Amino acid sequence: MAKVAILGATGAVGRTMLQVLEERSLPIDELVLLASERSAGSTVLFKGKELTVQAVSAESFEGVAVAIFSAGATRSREWAPIAVAAGATVVDNSSAFRMQPDVPLVVADVNPHAIHSHSGIIANPNCSTMQLMPILRPVRDAVGLERITVATYQAVSGTGQSAIDALREEAADVLAGNDDPEARQYPKPIAFDVLPVAGSFSGDQGYTDEELKLVHESRKILELPDLRVSATCTRVPVINGHSEAVWLETREPLSAAAFRAMLDAEAGITVLDDAETMTYPTARQATGQDGVFVGRIREDLGAPNGLACWVVADNLRKGAASNAVDIAELLLGS
Ligand SMILES: NC(=O)c1ccc[n+]([C@@H]2O[C@H](COP(=O)([O-])OP(=O)(O)OC[C@H]3O[C@@H](n4cnc5c(N)ncnc54)[C@H](OP(=O)(O)O)[C@@H]3O)[C@@H](O)[C@H]2O)c1
Repeated sequence: MAKVAILGATGAVGRTMLQVLEERSLPIDELVLLASERSAGSTVLFKGKELTVQAVSAESFEGVAVAIFSAGATRSREWAPIAVAAGATVVDNSSAFRMQPDVPLVVADVNPHAIHSHSGIIANPNCSTMQLMPILRPVRDAVGLERITVATYQAVSGTGQSAIDALREEAADVLAGNDDPEARQYPKPIAFDVLPVAGSFSGDQGYTDEELKLVHESRKILELPDLRVSATCTRVPVINGHSEAVWLETREPLSAAAFRAMLDAEAGITVLDDAETMTYPTARQATGQDGVFVGRIREDLGAPNGLACWVVADNLRKGAASNAVDIAELLLGS
């Protein structure tokens, strides 16, 4: 039995993590819930017991075997070295360490072997990258992967709890007759509109950090350093669940039927794809589920050896919390 800590336990990902932990049976005998001074003293019901949230401090990690961090990159940079020095293995949801060569970037059903090379910290990929990897791994293995092009349609929950609240408030304003609501979270209002920028602009080539994460993290996880990746990340007025339009170019030809059968055979993937019955996955449908959902599978009319599909997952679960718990499970050997 082990002591496990969650830093960021009161956030959108942290609360989802508690739900996932309730559903699983990890060998945990003590769960320490950590956040900022703001939430210290608040209580959370976990497996029938009331747990009190504590403000994180240097003493928080004493005796902790696994510390799952989901409190943003600044807090991870500050507290991960302290937790590691106290003997914990940190599973980090933030972008702080993902691209460090000595930090494995792990999707539990794609590259679980990578966790063995950690030196105290294991990183969870960004949510948009996470849901794409289980689709790409079998394609890479069977026919080789040359290029991926992705357009994301990211839910506001990917920004955190404050963005969910903002969308609800802006939407209420619009429904009350105000077509020009105050922008509460992003540079422009998100209610009833689409923002062609998710994340912040990074570098001088016109890309956002979300787009660059898709490029670099995909290459690292798939161990394909030369994979060509093009991404456009958008934010849509969806509470939860990221959708992605994905185009793949493979080294050897792969028919749409063979691609569909390949995805169907994967344990964590559900294919929902039937034009006659209008069967396809949506963000609402994926919410609350751990798997990745795929539809609109077809050959790309515009590229030789090209395929296209639509990939949906719950960004708080599959995109963050469930994978972190999967990694904790691997670490605790349960
Ligand atoms: N949302 C997603 O889909 C998603 C997916 C993948 C990765 N992530 C990553 O997961 C992390 C958390 O995201 P989120 O969406 O859960 O954010 P969130 O809803 O804003 O929650 C942030 C959490 O961090 C805590 N926190 C903030 N400042 C702190 C401080 N100074 N000291 C200690 N704790 C502090 C907050 O505690 P208080 O209650 O005390 O403020 C809260 O528990 C981020 O790194 C994000 O990039 C998110």
